[in-house]
Amino acid sequence: MPNRNIKHLFIPESIAIIGASCEKGKIGHEILKNVIEYGYKGKIYPINIKEKEIMGLKAYKSVLDVRGDIDMAVIVVPAKFVPSVLLECGKKGVKAVAIISSGFSEIGNKNEEEVLVNTAKAYGISLLGPNIFGVIYTPTRLNASFGPRDVIPGDIACITQSGALGAALIGWTVLENIGLSAVVSVGNKADVDDSDLLEYFSRDKNTKGIVVYMEGVKEGRKFLQTAERVSKKKLIVIIKSGRSEKGAKAAASHTGSLAGSDKVFSAAFKQSGILRADTMEKAFDWARICSLPAPEGEGAVILTNGGGVGVLATDACDKERIKLLDDHKYLEETFRPYMPVFGSARNPIDITGQATVEDYFNAFKKAMESDKISALIVLNCETAAFDTVEFSEKVIKYFHSLPGWSKKPVVFNFIGGIKSKNAMDILNKNKIPAYPQPERAVNSLGALYKWRKYTKTEKKQIKKLDIDKEKIYSIINKAREEGRLQLLEHESKDILKACGLDLPKYKLATTIEEALKAAEKIGYPIVLKIVSEDIIHKSDIGGVKVGIKNAKELKNAYKEIMYRAKKSYPKANIRGILVNEMVEKGVEIIVGCSEDPQFGPVIMFGLGGIYVEVLKDVAFRVAPIDKEDALDMIDDIKSYPLLYGVRGEKRKDINSLAENISLLSYFSHEIPEIVEMDVNPLIVLEEGCKIVDVRMTLKEV
Ligand code: COA
Repeated sequence: MPNRNIKHLFIPESIAIIGASCEKGKIGHEILKNVIEYGYKGKIYPINIKEKEIMGLKAYKSVLDVRGDIDMAVIVVPAKFVPSVLLECGKKGVKAVAIISSGFSEIGNKNEEEVLVNTAKAYGISLLGPNIFGVIYTPTRLNASFGPRDVIPGDIACITQSGALGAALIGWTVLENIGLSAVVSVGNKADVDDSDLLEYFSRDKNTKGIVVYMEGVKEGRKFLQTAERVSKKKLIVIIKSGRSEKGAKAAASHTGSLAGSDKVFSAAFKQSGILRADTMEKAFDWARICSLPAPEGEGAVILTNGGGVGVLATDACDKERIKLLDDHKYLEETFRPYMPVFGSARNPIDITGQATVEDYFNAFKKAMESDKISALIVLNCETAAFDTVEFSEKVIKYFHSLPGWSKKPVVFNFIGGIKSKNAMDILNKNKIPAYPQPERAVNSLGALYKWRKYTKTEKKQIKKLDIDKEKIYSIINKAREEGRLQLLEHESKDILKACGLDLPKYKLATTIEEALKAAEKIGYPIVLKIVSEDIIHKSDIGGVKVGIKNAKELKNAYKEIMYRAKKSYPKANIRGILVNEMVEKGVEIIVGCSEDPQFGPVIMFGLGGIYVEVLKDVAFRVAPIDKEDALDMIDDIKSYPLLYGVRGEKRKDINSLAENISLLSYFSHEIPEIVEMDVNPLIVLEEGCKIVDVRMTLKEV
């Protein structure tokens, strides 16, 4: 099978438009027009069954009639003709095709789409689409789309699953002065998918940031692994819509009902260094910072001519966890010369509305030159006395004078009318991010901090478990032989023990005598629990007794549990009673593992009781995760301060909790037979933590 290379979609030396038309308004006409008028320099071959010439270019009946090579073909004929023209492309040696035509898997015609993929594979063609509005790559002046023509060249690549949205977005980027390197409509993603494109743009020197609009992801794991690599080099921002709860509905267990949700997408993106934006505006606000350098250390400075806007930016910094420089002596010495006596050098540096362009620019320059200042937020309120355009032009000149551009991240905000808009346009056209609101400027700087923090993270250090697979599969097989998918408590605990996890002592007893013996060995106080596959909610029927202090209490408790179980479930298959070590009080945690329809094994964490059940205060990650990821996951839930100790309680062992979460995530990834696991509760103590109860469900075969 010949190798495919998607570069021919972006830098083809020749291009055929199959279905090019003389008729204005037809898609085949508009695409050819865009290709010609946007200034593509390679050879252009219009293909049309009946025309001899289209828009002054010689037309051909088929690609097979063209003498020269064809690198790329845009197919814009009705769906029923696409298989035959694609086959001709294969025979001609066309390297990449963009299939505009609709009428394939999006309307249920999966087989027809498969035929296209098979032909493309057989001939080593990169197939983009079908069902797309085209592809644009500004460095080669290629606009093979029926979207707007005038795309501003820049360094942001845009990948969109929605054609119409993508096309509309181009016009909007022009208004906003956002420069694009590429716009790719991916449509049905039959062959070329988001992962291929991320990979391509990660190597493309003309692209610094990638914005993706997606409704769903095919092969979620592959996508995340690619994104994880790519976002170390380039900024990736994703707008993900179409929140799927399908997986959640399919899953029966507690954990399962929370998985498959949008939270998993957010977590997966975070793990891979992707920034998830909830609006278009935010996505492009963030994408603008793709060419800014990483902040060196902490200590940002806000430079402003207005007190109020300075306060708004300070609040926004607090929200984004951007630390402001608070060396007041240094700030006073540095900035006092550029402000009147009533100005403030306390950060925000308020040089007041009286400041001249000269004052403002000098203060800005001083901040740029300071080694102590790691990032700069420049705010400006429009006044009659201040020429914002002159200021912007001075800033641009200054940036150009710097060897290799700026080494310090800086964002601008201009509040006001047309003068402010003009000042922003000047900066944005020069790839210096400027925003109309202080919060947007700070929020975008916050995005830079997040992304750059990810680029500096070390490779994951996942602690592996020494898993006794033979033992685990003997338990699994026994359950299967008995026709069970649900493992019993002691079986689930045996499995975790076979992975080397440390569990409180437990022993299954089938008689009072056995229970007494077990209790002696474990040591009082103990907990008794009924064991039966037919009794799920043990506590509800009085199947659990805690705090048993001696043999007498044990005998009574044993009898009572048996009596109640038989009364509530006369037909239940009772396996015995589990004698457990009693664990001291701590913070109760739930850790769940389940199979996400998009990403495979995922791990969930939350504080027990109402925090998970009512408030749904949970965090997800795609398994496996390392301890650092687990710590980050713990910080994700709102109720995490309870672990740090409240109302005089001591801080709990968060380190040990993170280690356990990481180990459980590794386990769930390694044993795919177990599709669901609920560790509930896991008790976090001041020192260490204990897995008190665990349930596992096997995959249906
Ligand atoms: N080889 C060469 N030319 C061919 C051909 C073939 N095998 N079959 C048809 N043509 C020519 C036609 O003669 C016509 O040219 P003409 O205008 O000179 O007659 C041209 O190709 C287009 O064919 P036509 O039958 O007129 O189709 P159309 O232009 O009405 O529609 C599509 C074609 C692809 C645009 C349409 O089928 C479609 O899929 N539209 C949806 C596109 C879309 O929305 N995509 C997703 C965006 S997000």
